[in-house]
Amino acid sequence: MTEITVRRLTEEDWAEYRALRLRSLSESPEAFVASAEEEEDYPEERWRGRMTRSQRLLASTESEAVGVASIGTENTAEDHIGELFGLWVSPSARGTGVARRLLEAAANAAREDNLTHLAYWVGTDNGRAVAFASSFGFRPTDNRRPMEIRGADVDDEDAEEMAMVLPLGSSSGNIPTSL
Ligand SMILES: CC(C)(COP(=O)(O)OP(=O)(O)OC[C@H]1O[C@@H](n2cnc3c(N)ncnc32)[C@H](O)[C@@H]1OP(=O)(O)O)[C@@H](O)C(=O)NCCC(=O)NCCS
Repeated sequence: MTEITVRRLTEEDWAEYRALRLRSLSESPEAFVASAEEEEDYPEERWRGRMTRSQRLLASTESEAVGVASIGTENTAEDHIGELFGLWVSPSARGTGVARRLLEAAANAAREDNLTHLAYWVGTDNGRAVAFASSFGFRPTDNRRPMEIRGADVDDEDAEEMAMVLPLGSSSGNIPTSL
């Protein structure tokens, strides 16, 4: 079995993160709001800023990077709620447990930061991501928002994201309504 390691990237790893982020946006444009085209032009300084603003987790095998996920609190309503975003696993590594390893690392990092919940905004049409998040313990909520997809020609004005929430404590706790 291929060994998977997950590590937290530092600011100095910005170029490695950039490469994987752009790969994720090019490969799965319909899963993300941002487009590879717009991020390709970001200067180094902006990538460096991104590395410190949120935690960037990278999964790799002995030979290559195979997945990425981020967590942060910048866009959440409360400081104790974190957001999981930018989750992507390379197509050849899907269904092999890489996504689970990334989320285990993300949940551990969030607990270390005393966060009580992780929120995850995911396209309601993204069956695979919703199924995966559910199997990890994320619960669907009533929170919805329109999803503007800039990287793909998706002709769906009604595209929506829903918030799923993972309680990080030992008990299920109350699911916060404002995320
Ligand atoms: C979302 C993602 C990270 C999940 O990783 P993964 O390795 O594919 O996840 P897994 O295979 O472990 O789990 C997916 C589950 O969904 C199921 N599934 C697959 N396709 C599905 C579909 N179209 N609808 C519903 N469920 C589906 C699988 O059977 C599996 O369930 P199981 O473990 O009970 O068999 C990965 O698919 C990915 O990178 N997708 C493209 C980018 C993306 O959508 N990112 C999320 C942006 S919010």
